[in-house]
Amino acid sequence: MRQIYPVQGPELQVVPKAGLGALPAAVSELARLYRGDGQSHQRGWLQANMVASVDGAASLGGRSGGLSGPGDRMVFTVLRSLADVILVGAGTVRAERYRPAQGAELWQQLRPPGAPLPAIAVVTARLDVDPAGQLLTGAATGAQTIVVTTADAPPDRKAAIARHARIVEAGQGQVDVSAAVAALHGLGYSRILCEGGPGLLGQLAQAGLIDELCLTTSPVFASGPAGRIVRSGSGQVTGPPAGATAAGATTARLSLAHLLTDEDYLFSRYRSAT
Ligand SMILES: NC(=O)c1ccc[n+]([C@@H]2O[C@H](COP(=O)([O-])OP(=O)(O)OC[C@H]3O[C@@H](n4cnc5c(N)ncnc54)[C@H](OP(=O)(O)O)[C@@H]3O)[C@@H](O)[C@H]2O)c1
Repeated sequence: MRQIYPVQGPELQVVPKAGLGALPAAVSELARLYRGDGQSHQRGWLQANMVASVDGAASLGGRSGGLSGPGDRMVFTVLRSLADVILVGAGTVRAERYRPAQGAELWQQLRPPGAPLPAIAVVTARLDVDPAGQLLTGAATGAQTIVVTTADAPPDRKAAIARHARIVEAGQGQVDVSAAVAALHGLGYSRILCEGGPGLLGQLAQAGLIDELCLTTSPVFASGPAGRIVRSGSGQVTGPPAGATAAGATTARLSLAHLLTDEDYLFSRYRSAT
């Protein structure tokens, strides 16, 4: 892997899996690149990490794994290692069979001393999450899974989930993503990593909450029916957002912070221009 913008960097050895022992120099350098300059809002800093095919597909066969590769897994691991909390939509949790972050799968040396593992925060209105499943019951100490839902979500499911997970209520009918991000920040999570999916990302984009998009472009034509990494026009954001165009679409200008390449993959980091 090598940085090619804004400057040519040295060759970085790809280490797709975290390990024990000394931090590899390439991982340390990647963390420096993806940590950014530490700029933060009052609501924290929201980084999204996604992978897409060159023709814009966000999945192959209903999952994103087929688009990934060793370099993407390295970026994924480094971003998780830097995060305080991992925000994800319930559709992705179900499709990708999410479980709590594991210490052995992260570069713990990148975390502040004594910091817990990043908690998973799932956004769901229906609460269609297994209350006895690994995601809710298997979290490490200090990294209890968070379920972000609405005040009017099914009370029986809410009670079952609350036995293991922390419930955060934000909005009625649908989760108000601005309130959700504010609530996470209020719980002390200032570095929020959103791993999708497209439905949740669309709302975050419409609400102007994405500070950075880390995008892996996978060197394949996916064709087929797969959607893009951001799906908007869901009607879940009230009021016309700034920059709204016809049919609920929103344009937001981004600036390229860096570009890396490895084995025909591109790894870009875009920052919100606002
Ligand atoms: N390429 C990538 O990097 C990448 C990353 C992630 C996912 N994916 C792919 O994306 C696909 C899943 O897409 P998706 O759009 O369904 O995923 P999603 O955004 O993760 O999930 C959508 C679901 O999240 C919940 N949700 C989202 N916003 C909400 C809100 N404001 N209020 C309440 N609930 C809300 C709802 O869950 P409930 O139905 O439970 O209420 C909704 O059905 C999968 O194929 C996955 O593999 C790709």
